[in-house]
Amino acid sequence: MTEKRVVILGLESSCDETAAAVVANGRQVLASVVASQVDLHRQFGGVVPEIAARAHIENITPVLRETLAEAKLDHNAVDAIAVAYCPGLTPALLISVTAAKTLAWAWGKPLIGVNHIHSHLQSVMLEHAEEVFPAVALVVSGGHTSLYDCRSPVELKLIGRTLDDAAGEAFDKVAMILGLPYPGGPSVEKCGASGDPKAIDFPRTYLGPDSLDFSFSGIKTAVLYHCRGQNMLGENRTASMSEREKADICASFQKAVVDVLVKKTLRAAEQCAANTVLLGGGVAFNNCLRERLERACEKAGKRLVIASKKYCTDNAAMIAGLAYYKYIRGDFADLTLEPVASQK
Ligand code: KG4
Ligand code: ZN
Repeated sequence: MTEKRVVILGLESSCDETAAAVVANGRQVLASVVASQVDLHRQFGGVVPEIAARAHIENITPVLRETLAEAKLDHNAVDAIAVAYCPGLTPALLISVTAAKTLAWAWGKPLIGVNHIHSHLQSVMLEHAEEVFPAVALVVSGGHTSLYDCRSPVELKLIGRTLDDAAGEAFDKVAMILGLPYPGGPSVEKCGASGDPKAIDFPRTYLGPDSLDFSFSGIKTAVLYHCRGQNMLGENRTASMSEREKADICASFQKAVVDVLVKKTLRAAEQCAANTVLLGGGVAFNNCLRERLERACEKAGKRLVIASKKYCTDNAAMIAGLAYYKYIRGDFADLTLEPVASQK
């Protein structure tokens, strides 16, 4: 007997991407559309929540139409509507949460609320057919740096998190200090490509021999002091810095962040006796992190599964993917679902 195919429409607007996707059985992506707002926020050097929300309002209907057309489905073929309701920027989340509730009500479909950070792990599974659980997972995004002990897509135990800045946030702030364009992560990686990662010995914060938590505000401040002097009263040298000097700062900063991420992830895998390591989230786009974690896992005899680059940054395929596992558990939301800014 063949199992019924479950088709889920997912929506995502937690930050500066308006996204919709249709995914069958949690892994088969029938359509995935992402409208980026990078150009809108570039002039401000970061995401402005109210501007993001207004752009989501304009984008959500065309993105939705394009997604259903790409999937060659009409809404009758959709079994449920899923939406990322936390964590994120509240005004931004509100747009897709409202759209999802409206569609669920109008089309008479069940509604599923999904944690955006948990769904970054599902992005690992979208192009990976094999079973990956149990595993330890690192999610590195703009707002979160989290380690999970994972038994299944919906059985995740948070075992480590950042106490201050997230890894992506540190990349974004360092880009800002150096006057590199938003979004900062890709700019820092690009600028650092020609730099010497050993040029500057920026501090690594490990928080003790067993800790699985992270802290990246110290390294961000170290970059700031390096550029502006210890008392911040010195000349801001960034404008007159050579490309070579900026490249060395970026490469050294990136190496320090990656050193900590890799060490803590392997530490978590040891502590949880996990043989598989998963990596997802926007910072997982970074080649230095991908390569270094790959080498470390190989050395430690662990299997590493990384989200493919197109699903590292925010998208709705991961939302619809994770929602499938909630669907088969009957874990539905009702129309009182509200956006929640912080991680639950
Ligand atoms: O997961 P994501 O798309 O959005 C959030 O949920 O936050 O992650 C965005 C973060 C940003 O901080 C961005 O600078 C970072 O991912 N990022 C990178 C790279 N590409 C994106 N960080 C380092 N290297 C990259 N290549
Ligand atoms: Zn994200």
